[in-house]
Amino acid sequence: MERKRLKTIVFLAAMAAILATFVLLSIFDQPPRMPADTDHPRHSIESSCVQCHHPAGSKPLNPHHTERRSCLKCHKAP
Ligand code: HEC
Ligand code: HEC
Repeated sequence: MERKRLKTIVFLAAMAAILATFVLLSIFDQPPRMPADTDHPRHSIESSCVQCHHPAGSKPLNPHHTERRSCLKCHKAP
């Protein structure tokens, strides 16, 4: 009986630790905001982003960056 209870407590503690890891990761691993400069006006449209953020542009994306084109879902305006 005691042993079973200990197992339950250990199991719940492990679950809580895993959950906490994901919560902390999502808090600290936010995509960077757009910088507040003239390249990024507050109401810039999504289709303009790739003009500069393409492989030969002024600020190419890292090779591991997501392929997804919906930039504004992740990158908030300054
Ligand atoms: C006219 C060129 C241009 C356009 C258009 C542009 N950017 Fe940028 N962007 C840049 C440059 C240059 C930098 C680097 C600025 C710096 O490091 O200060 C940058 C930086 C960024 C950063 C910050 C990266 C970091 O390391 O913090 C994000 C996020 C970003 N741009 C997203 C966007 C999105 C989303 C759009 C479309 C709405 C967009 N940009 C349109 C030129 C552009
Ligand atoms: C699913 C979320 C997501 C989408 C959609 C997204 N990004 Fe990002 N972006 C990120 C994250 C997270 C980072 C932080 C660096 C990393 O982990 O690669 C980042 C980093 C950047 C940077 C900094 C340089 C780099 O490559 O790390 C720029 C510039 C940028 N994104 C522009 C864009 C543009 C332009 C688009 C649309 C074509 C876009 N992002 C779409 C999540 C996203």
